Amino acid sequence: MSISSFLTKKFLKSLFFPAHNRGAALPEKLVKLLKNQPGYWDLPELPEIGSPLSQRGLIAKSQKKFSEKFKTKGCFFGVNGASGLIQSAVIAMANPGEALIMPRNVHISVIKTCALQNILPIFFNLESSSETGHYQPLTKNWLESVFKKINFNEKKIAGVILVNPSYQGYAGDIEPLINLCHQKKLPVLVDEAHGSYFLFCKKLNLPKSALLSNADLVVHSLHKSLNGLTQTAALWYKGNLVKEHNLIRSINLLQTTSPSSLLLSSCEESIKDWINKKSLSKYQKRILEAKSIYKRLIQKNIPLIKTQDPLKIVVNTSKVGIDGFTADNFFYRNGLIAELPEMMTLTFCLGFANQKDFLNLFEKLWKELLLNSKRRKNLKVLKSPFKLVQTPEIEIGIAWRSKTRIIPFSQSLNKISGDIVCPYPPGVPLLVPGEKIDEDRFNWIKKQSLCNKDLVNFNIRVL
Ligand SMILES: Cc1ncc(COP(=O)(O)O)c(C=O)c1O
Repeated sequence: MSISSFLTKKFLKSLFFPAHNRGAALPEKLVKLLKNQPGYWDLPELPEIGSPLSQRGLIAKSQKKFSEKFKTKGCFFGVNGASGLIQSAVIAMANPGEALIMPRNVHISVIKTCALQNILPIFFNLESSSETGHYQPLTKNWLESVFKKINFNEKKIAGVILVNPSYQGYAGDIEPLINLCHQKKLPVLVDEAHGSYFLFCKKLNLPKSALLSNADLVVHSLHKSLNGLTQTAALWYKGNLVKEHNLIRSINLLQTTSPSSLLLSSCEESIKDWINKKSLSKYQKRILEAKSIYKRLIQKNIPLIKTQDPLKIVVNTSKVGIDGFTADNFFYRNGLIAELPEMMTLTFCLGFANQKDFLNLFEKLWKELLLNSKRRKNLKVLKSPFKLVQTPEIEIGIAWRSKTRIIPFSQSLNKISGDIVCPYPPGVPLLVPGEKIDEDRFNWIKKQSLCNKDLVNFNIRVL
């Protein structure tokens, strides 16, 4: 089968990213554009359009308008996902040999940039749930204890990266955290890949967007948490701690010379759609519907986990002795496609289309899953191997470039990794280049391989 034939495959229900739910929630103007002669709209960087870094043209105009609307200094569209813009933001913040403070649930795009530029990650651990193993939102007290553990005089610390919300939708109050970093004159990049829509909904009791909480740099994944096409993203910047020319140079360094006009139009339309009162009220209705889906599933005794993002339905499958991968497999075979299987949970992303048929379908399949699956008694949250603050034993860029050999992971105890070990989704690295595979880390990764097929019998590059 060719890729193109697969792309029209029907599933009963698609609850994965992109969040436009297979076109059902695309902005009207984009739908209209796509109805034109196929490919007609695939234009190069003509002067009238320009690119995200042009001074003139429709893209520059649109970015400027959005930037003014949200009182930022700049907005840049991106066509290589939030990953691409996060990588530019990281390069704009730190020079090779400088350090960035970041949580353990940082996205792999940050680590790749650190390896590329030898930017030194100072990792801090987060509290995790004893029920699911999920990282919990960062609090001010926790960040204060992290800062106490860090020697700020050892090497230049160029900034802090925060992830809010997480893949599963956990989010905290980000403003006090940003203020704490600013007291130390440290710029803050917030990876808000999963929370773009928070910016547009001040009511509905959603977490406050980092953009309204004084973050210096904020990256949105427009296909994950707005209704853009896959790969669309936006980077916003504010304040004086990151220099504009550094940011522009860094975007330029990584950006393709031929950004897709379709994706750039999708960036514009997805943001516009949430500013437009009529479509905004439709999406607000969806968010309220999502909240009521959560309530009704709880009433039916489905073990759900509460997060701050109503569009994520996180099922605690471990409560019934089933791991998230087995549950995912079952739902997939039955046409209900989820987004994120993990050892203890399975996460569905409702997206922005109407999901009124989800409740009945889910309830029916859940009952079948309970009847047909083997229950496990040994499903336990794994104890985190991380110290509160930790840096790789060998500088990440050096380890990445070192001579390495490939061995089975099972033989890697006490070796130094030359690799990033990172199942996707969620794209949170378990091990980065330069880190030692000590006993705790080794066992922690090995135990995860009991469920996660990405980790079964895998090989690793070690120094
Ligand atoms: C927290 C987080 N940040 C960034 C990204 C990258 O987003 P994109 O797929 O738009 O590149 C992801 C993707 O999984 C993510 O989970």
